[in-house]
Amino acid sequence: MSCISIILAIVTFNTILILGDKSSNIPPVPQPTPPPLLLVDQRLSVVFPVIQKFKNIITSDPLGVTKTWTGSDICKYRGFYCDNPPDNKTAIALASIDFNGFQLSAPSLDGFLDQLPDIALFHANSNFFTGTISPNIAKLPYLYELDISNNLFSGSFPNAILGMNSLNFLDIRFNLFAGSVPPQLFTKDLDILFLNNNNFMQRLPDNLEKSHIILLTLANNKFFGPIPRGIYKALSALTEVLFLNNLLSGCLPYELGFLKEAIVFDAGNNRLTGPIPFSLGCLGKLEVLNFAGNYLYGMVPEVVCALGNLANLSLSDNYFIHVGPICRGLIKKGVLDLRKNCIPDLPFQRTVFECAAFFAQPRHCPYMPTHRFLPCWLPHFSSPSSALREMAPSPY
Ligand SMILES: *[C@@H]1O[C@H](CO)[C@@H](O)[C@H](O)[C@H]1NC(C)=O
Ligand SMILES: *[C@@H]1O[C@H](CO)[C@@H](O)[C@H](O)[C@H]1NC(C)=O
Repeated sequence: MSCISIILAIVTFNTILILGDKSSNIPPVPQPTPPPLLLVDQRLSVVFPVIQKFKNIITSDPLGVTKTWTGSDICKYRGFYCDNPPDNKTAIALASIDFNGFQLSAPSLDGFLDQLPDIALFHANSNFFTGTISPNIAKLPYLYELDISNNLFSGSFPNAILGMNSLNFLDIRFNLFAGSVPPQLFTKDLDILFLNNNNFMQRLPDNLEKSHIILLTLANNKFFGPIPRGIYKALSALTEVLFLNNLLSGCLPYELGFLKEAIVFDAGNNRLTGPIPFSLGCLGKLEVLNFAGNYLYGMVPEVVCALGNLANLSLSDNYFIHVGPICRGLIKKGVLDLRKNCIPDLPFQRTVFECAAFFAQPRHCPYMPTHRFLPCWLPHFSSPSSALREMAPSPY
């Protein structure tokens, strides 16, 4: 507080802001002049009218949040937080906004978010904001975290985001965005990228350069086509890969075995086919692996069931035909779910007729010889030759 009052004392003369007196066109009734508003910093007087303008377009505020958005102390408005901006450690600026769960309705954030020059964090999940995202957000030099999840935003992916060099965290899940996501997004310097539960419809981009993404969720969209073989180059830092509930098809690339940091890999409810590559047995940190609800077949690799940290291996609703002793141990422990497959001696399997119909179609994957290839050294599973080839690119 003392810091604020010192600054207040220093800058009082140049930051007095007198508002009101807009009544000149109605001569007969003299409006009372509101008391002059004293904003502690020039930067706050810049955003004051922006906030008031936004307040005026809010159509619903069931929790009464905006009642606190009055007076000169912006830093005490509910949801608004001030801090020293990076370019002037003695100034006070509006540094972050947290509207999470406020349930506000407004037709747009245009003219608001993009007019807050010092904003670093903008979190507004679980509101009823609509409209598109203004390209002007590209001009916000400090925006580091943008969370507009669980709103009603629509339109195409806000491409302005590609030009934002400070952005590290992007969460636009649970909105109505549609169309495609620019491939460059996956190689931006982001740690967190949540795109799930929109209407994005596109092939996953291949040939990506290295990225830093740690959490990536594409779930519940309409991504289609195969999981690209180049995925490991771009996404090798990923700890959570959430592809579930899309339209991904084709065979699983053996290169998934290079996602060494993966703890959760969830590609449930897609149209993936072919066998599970043995290389997934190299993902030593894996705790959750979900391929339930696909068209996978063949045997469940013992090397995958032998993963030490595995707590949930969901393979139900596929067409596996064989399961070995290590995997059977996981079924007993409740870790492996193989219901609704084609394994003759297990309970809760598909009918013989269903399985026969599936295998009546010719099934083929490209790069089949890579399917048993282990790109890591596992004493009980590796052959010496595959150990020598550790980290070598796919031999095909
Ligand atoms: C930093 O901010 C203070 C307070 O707003 C202001 O008086 C000062 O002129 C600013 N310094 C620069 C270099 O802009
Ligand atoms: C394992 O994961 C599946 C798919 O995500 C989920 O439906 C199931 O409840 C999980 N099982 C356990 C025991 O956590």
